[in-house]
Amino acid sequence: MSDSSTLDPVEASQAVLEELKRQRTEGVRQIYIEDSTIEDLERLLGSENGKEAKNLQPVSQSTTAEVSAEVQRISSAPTVEESQPASPKTSATETNPKLLSPPEFSLPEGSKQEQWDWLKNRVLGCDVCKSELNPDAQVVFGVGSLDADLFFCGEAPGAEEEKAGEPFVGPAGELLDRIISAMGLTRESVYIGNVVNFRPRHHSSYGNRPPTAEEMSFCLPYLKAQLDIVKPKVVVALGKTATDGLLGADPQRRLGQMRGTWHQYEGTPLMVTYHPSYLLHNPSKSSKRKVWEDMLLVMEKLGLSISEKQRGFFQ
Ligand code: URA
Ligand code: URA
Repeated sequence: MSDSSTLDPVEASQAVLEELKRQRTEGVRQIYIEDSTIEDLERLLGSENGKEAKNLQPVSQSTTAEVSAEVQRISSAPTVEESQPASPKTSATETNPKLLSPPEFSLPEGSKQEQWDWLKNRVLGCDVCKSELNPDAQVVFGVGSLDADLFFCGEAPGAEEEKAGEPFVGPAGELLDRIISAMGLTRESVYIGNVVNFRPRHHSSYGNRPPTAEEMSFCLPYLKAQLDIVKPKVVVALGKTATDGLLGADPQRRLGQMRGTWHQYEGTPLMVTYHPSYLLHNPSKSSKRKVWEDMLLVMEKLGLSISEKQRGFFQ
């Protein structure tokens, strides 16, 4: 994309759109786009007659708006819906009236365990979540220690999780377990939750789609209540959906710029890092190292001892 400024923006964006559509018809579920490439594309899409605009405002040509939508869909989450030819009006973006009013509740008085049991019961019985389920699937609530110092937040259950009724038990979960164990911790000693408690439904028999803004805002009170109960010392947001859920959506947000530095969720230190699914699809040493550097920062913040061997992983 480095020559983008010399291309005709309409022609170039049509070419990008055609290529993205072609890849989707071939069953490509997700593609990796470097932050720098997205920035190039934004410059291209925001430019008129070769003049660079500062912000990404889809220009009047429908093609560039479509490319922008497509790129956002593909780059904004570790998983991408297999869908009909690109159109901003897929079922995933249609308004679902059931989701319009997120649940309102306050946790009952009691111990952490009592509050957590109450909340879990409420979430597993949530009529809206249940009505969003695929056949034979389960609502998935968080797991782990209620006294955990570290709270990992993911996106939404995938195929394995909706069957098992437990977060992060598929391939991404196996990688998360390896990350946790490389930190010298166990899955049981941390807490693992998701922004959304059901696997977002879509038209394909395989693959996952990222949750819509409505799905996220419906389930967020459940995630936030888990954070209130556990009161971790550090929260790790795995990927863009978790980050948007915890910090509020921001279309300009780039994980590559967020990771590696401390943010805050309601006063609790928050580290943003790449989602394990992203690492599974982009298993370069440099991606793994970045996630590992984020985890080293988390370990430091938690006062965990770090061996020389641990410091050197993926270098
Ligand atoms: N990906 C997620 O974000 N959460 C899960 O529970 C599984 C995969
Ligand atoms: N983009 C995402 O949405 N998640 C990742 O983990 C990496 C890139």
